[in-house]
Amino acid sequence: TAPLRVALLGHGAVGAGVAECIDRHSDRFALGKVLVRHLDGRDPARFTDDLDEALAGDPDVVIELIGGSDAADILSRALRRGAHVVTANKAVVAAHYDAFHAAATAGGSQLVFSGAVGGGAPVLEAAARLHAGPGLVAVEGVMNGTANHLFGRLAAGWPLDRALIEARALGFAEADPSADVDGYDAAAKLAILARACFGAALAPERIPRQSLRATTPETAQAALARGEVLKQVGRCRVLPNGTLAAGVTIESLPLAHPLAGANGAENRFRLTDRAGRVHTIFGQGAGRWPTAAAVFADLMDVRRRHIEALGEEPIRLSA
Ligand code: HSE
Repeated sequence: TAPLRVALLGHGAVGAGVAECIDRHSDRFALGKVLVRHLDGRDPARFTDDLDEALAGDPDVVIELIGGSDAADILSRALRRGAHVVTANKAVVAAHYDAFHAAATAGGSQLVFSGAVGGGAPVLEAAARLHAGPGLVAVEGVMNGTANHLFGRLAAGWPLDRALIEARALGFAEADPSADVDGYDAAAKLAILARACFGAALAPERIPRQSLRATTPETAQAALARGEVLKQVGRCRVLPNGTLAAGVTIESLPLAHPLAGANGAENRFRLTDRAGRVHTIFGQGAGRWPTAAAVFADLMDVRRRHIEALGEEPIRLSA
């Protein structure tokens, strides 16, 4: 089978990790020039700041890791043309899922985004299984690693600005960190979860959000003195009348609370099924490797289904 031609848009914390994974599998994937915002002295044989050049030659797969919602048109066009799309961009999937789905149907292409929520925590996979099986009525979780990291540092007496610089250096924060601080990132993830858990369309901009800008080191330290920790929690549940209630709030949780132990980049999710059983998913939710691994696993899945659709290379089971 010929290597799949891959366009990689973005070479930040996650993109650089994905590029490294692709390089290790050059028998399976042929990587075009990687799109970066600024060349900044990078090798022009490997990188470009020109989108057309990054998408030259109609690649089989477009991996989008540039973030923000500007990527919507690029992805719709790629899907309609028949290119598969792998993305970890929560904002764009949450806001444009229906348009992408229609474009993928028209193009016979695949759209995959398991790195968009939970990073290395396989929450979307669990949600899809439980939605298809027992059915779900509620999802809640600590789903933004940056907020987690900031609350941890505030409790240690750091000012917010300094903690935010560190969260960016660690590769947790979004390019525009207000997505993390003001809850947009968690709201986008909650909208994607609502679809996976309940099959429901939830507009991310309609989800009420609480910003953590007003939180001071004193507030975080006072919580700790009470035996509590501050957490940004996203919740969505099905009401008895069938509508959804959702929100992103800042809560002071007792240390024994199941969500309280998520520290640093960890994400924790609790999914409640129709029988009242709670299913808990943990994992590293932010940072280069957890997310790059999820994106690369998506790419491998895309390749497998692509090859199956071509009717080539049947999977052989060894004895
Ligand atoms: N900025 C996000 C976070 C990255 O901190 O959780 C992972 O989605």
